[in-house]
Amino acid sequence: MSVIHVGHSEIVRFADERVNLKRDDAKVFRDQINRLRDRLEQHLSEHPDFALKKMFLSGSLAKGTALKLINDGDVAVYVSSGDAPSDTQQLIPWLAQRLRQAFPNIKPGQVVENPSTLTVSFIETGLRVDVVPVLYSGDPNWKGYIVSKHTGEKVLTSIPMHIDFTRRRKAANEIHFAQVVRLMKFWVRNQRLENPEFRFKSFMIELLVAHLADRGLLQLDDYPEALAQIFAHIAKDSFKSTIAFGDHYDPKLCAETSHPIRIWDPINHQNNTASRYTDAQRKTIIEFALDAGDAIDSALHATTKADTLRYWRKVLGSTFDA
Ligand SMILES: Nc1ncnc2c1ncn2[C@@H]1O[C@H](COP(=O)(O)OP(=O)(O)OP(=O)(O)O)[C@@H](O)[C@H]1O
Ligand SMILES: [Mg+2]
Repeated sequence: MSVIHVGHSEIVRFADERVNLKRDDAKVFRDQINRLRDRLEQHLSEHPDFALKKMFLSGSLAKGTALKLINDGDVAVYVSSGDAPSDTQQLIPWLAQRLRQAFPNIKPGQVVENPSTLTVSFIETGLRVDVVPVLYSGDPNWKGYIVSKHTGEKVLTSIPMHIDFTRRRKAANEIHFAQVVRLMKFWVRNQRLENPEFRFKSFMIELLVAHLADRGLLQLDDYPEALAQIFAHIAKDSFKSTIAFGDHYDPKLCAETSHPIRIWDPINHQNNTASRYTDAQRKTIIEFALDAGDAIDSALHATTKADTLRYWRKVLGSTFDA
């Protein structure tokens, strides 16, 4: 394979410049959310019966997999399930009211109520925080019921255990695991610019990369190779294999299901993170992965730098340069 024009080190440089959220920016966002968490703890120490019990940074900011053009942070607020309304339609206004009690500095205009989350916007940093309520009744591993954004269904899981799951994969492949996840997410983002209907959820990508890395199927320290291997796997396997992890349960326990894609939550063997994906969406992911795999292959065999860049731009977008 020819990597004269674009090889691992060129992808590393591009990722540093264009793909990854800079450490300093991540810190500004994390600090902002940590201040909220501290304020909630203060409020709780003064009002021990307050219904909001804990706040966790979740999602890519917590896992170190955020992209540079991040527009939202994820926060999970643990609410004591005995106090919260069981009807999800009432849950969000109820949560908004409790947040106003704990955070009097947050102005009403900063909070938008969505069907099953709240969005809090901070003008100073431009950060939008998606606040997801978790119905909690004291589990020591912070397992609780999150309300699905899309269906309103309650799903048992644990945000801190997800973060720990990712942390273990990062420790097994320092730098590279998170970088390959970010590059894959960046690929999705670029495809979506032209094809807004294309869907491939970040959490599913992370679990897919973890599944392949756990099995030693990825050469994670060579990014062109690792990306080519992931795309080749998607094209060949076409999501026929079930993805499940033995960290917290025996994968054999995963429910039988007719869902076209099965990528099970590492915490709950009854929660398929891909349950909403249709067969048409599965086929589209395969088609896009085939194109990306072909483009990388062509890039690696191209004889001129102009051709090499042209092929890489199909994968990593028009801003790709080397
Ligand atoms: N279907 C699901 N079941 C259980 N937990 C989920 C599910 N989807 C998301 N989560 C939780 O929400 C977190 C954020 O998921 P999301 O797909 O937004 O990824 P992300 O890492 O925040 O990526 P992005 O940078 O795109 O926001 C996950 O780490 C996980 O804890
Ligand atoms: Mg997120």
